[in-house]
Formats: sequence, structure tokens, C-alpha cells
Amino acid sequence: MEEPSKDTFVTKELDGKRVLVTGGTKGGMGEAIVNRLTHAGATVITTARNTPDELTDSDLFIQADISTPDGTTKIVENILERFDGVDILINNVGGSSTPTGGVLKQTDAGWQQTFETNLFAAVRLDRGLLPPMLKQGYGVIIHVTSIQRRFPGENTMAYSAAKAALANYSKALATELAPKGIRVNSVAPGFTETKAAGRLIERIAQERGYDYSDARQALMDSLGGIPIGRTARPEEVAELIAFLVSDRASYIVGAEHTIDGGIVRTI
Ligand SMILES: NC(=O)c1ccc[n+]([C@@H]2O[C@H](COP(=O)([O-])OP(=O)(O)OC[C@H]3O[C@@H](n4cnc5c(N)ncnc54)[C@H](OP(=O)(O)O)[C@@H]3O)[C@@H](O)[C@H]2O)c1
Repeated sequence: MEEPSKDTFVTKELDGKRVLVTGGTKGGMGEAIVNRLTHAGATVITTARNTPDELTDSDLFIQADISTPDGTTKIVENILERFDGVDILINNVGGSSTPTGGVLKQTDAGWQQTFETNLFAAVRLDRGLLPPMLKQGYGVIIHVTSIQRRFPGENTMAYSAAKAALANYSKALATELAPKGIRVNSVAPGFTETKAAGRLIERIAQERGYDYSDARQALMDSLGGIPIGRTARPEEVAELIAFLVSDRASYIVGAEHTIDGGIVRTI
């Protein structure tokens, strides 16, 4: 019998694992994570509000808005019924759509929606998908936070606060679940050039009469510069997550992993 190559051990290390990645469409980190974990041999289910036109496997997609209890209930019921649970849960969806202009522009509804999307969605999905993980004594949960949870954005205070709450919750969950065989960690990306970030750069370029690279530089400068000299690619964040969910990271529990090219200067 032919010896498997060294590469086979790494690329197929998630063979047989069932994974849910929230927000795996539209060319962001979610999609990169879906691709990376699928490449590693996992069965990867994803979810978004809009059903993509080109779905490679419609059985692995659940349409739902995870910022509502109905949406997370739909996902949990669907997964329990069809897959009997998941081994790995990546809470990737997050974001901010609150207005700029300071604290007085922030409404109750905006604060609430930001917390629903960035915190409560993860709380509800974790709680719904934990029972089978506890039963099998194995599971991995990742929460995608942001460097903004330590480095609040000028115009994104609700988002920064919600991500800080998510990081805090993630730590408490990790402590509770580690003795039961479930590892929980979080990942805090910096400025990652997703398709959506690309559209933001284009908008800034148009508004200020810059070319694309000047607009990107202006955004990098607004963060105090990026020591490594460039933005992150979604695939780089996906690579970190692929490591963290694998058994290569078997002793990593309750840690937040910053991946930001050096933006956050504090230790
Ligand atoms: N990009 C950055 O620079 C950056 C930096 C730090 C942290 N982060 C964090 O990293 C994570 C991923 O960000 P990303 O920018 O790469 O985005 P992304 O992974 O591309 O996320 C967008 C995906 O989420 C889905 N989605 C959005 N809202 C949803 C909802 N309410 N219910 C269900 N699905 C929803 C979108 O589909 P639909 O629109 O069809 O629902 C799409 O599939 C987020 O938690 C974000 O806060 C991003």
C-alpha cells in the first residue's frame, strides 16, 4: 500500500468532522474558512441571509438571519435533525452598520442590533449546538472577535463593545467547557481585505478622489499604520482558524489570537 504523503496528514486532518461556519458566502473570512476546512476534509455547513446564486452543495447551506432568535433556532434545529450536531462551530458573522457622527447618533435600536449580530447570535448558536458536543465529550468553538474590542473604532463604539463582550463570554465558556472536552478560543482579526472591505476602499477612493491604493493607505493610516505594511488576506485568518480547530492545537484553550500585522501596539 502506498504511504500517504506528509501533506495528506495536514490537508485531510479534519476528515469526518462536521463543521458550521456562519457567514460563509460573499468572499469574506467566512468563505475563506469554509474553503480551508473543506480542503482539510471536513463537511462544512454554512449559513447567510441570502442564498447564493451558485451553491456547490445546497444541502450544506441554511438560509437564516442569525441576528434573530428565530434564525438561530432554524439553524440549530436543521443541524440537529440532519447532522446530529457539529464537532466544530465557527461563529464568524459580525459587523457594524451603526451611523457615524458620535455617541448622540447612536440609537437603542442600533445598539441592540449590533449586540444581536455580534454577541447574542453566538450565545444562542453555542447553547443550541452544545448538547451533542457535551454528549460526545468533544467539540471546538471559535468566536471571531476583532482588534476593535481592545482598540475601539472611532465610529463603531457599539461594535467594539459587543466584540469586547463576545471575548469576555468566550473566555468564561472556555473555562466551563474545557473539563468536558470542548475547546473554546477566539480570533481577533485586524484590517482584512475582504470583498466588502474592497468596496469600502473603492467608496473612500471615489469620495476623496484618490486611487484605490491611496484610499487603502488612508484606511491603514487611520489605524495608526500597519507595521507589516499591508492588509490581511481572508485566507490568512482562515489558516489560523484551521490550526486552532485541529488537534494540533489540542492544548490551546480560552485564548484570544490576534492576527493584525502588528496594528495593536500594546501587550
Ligand atoms: N473584515 C475585517 O477587516 C474585519 C476585521 C476585524 C474583525 N472582523 C470580523 O470578522 C468576521 C468576518 O468578517 P468579514 O468582513 O470577513 O465578513 P464575512 O465573513 O464575509 O461575512 C459576511 C457573511 O456573513 C453573512 N451575514 C452577515 N450578516 C448576517 C446575518 N445577520 N445572518 C446570517 N448571515 C449573515 C453574509 O451573508 P448575507 O449578507 O447574505 O447574510 C456573508 O455570508 C466578523 O465577525 C467581523 O466582525 C472583520
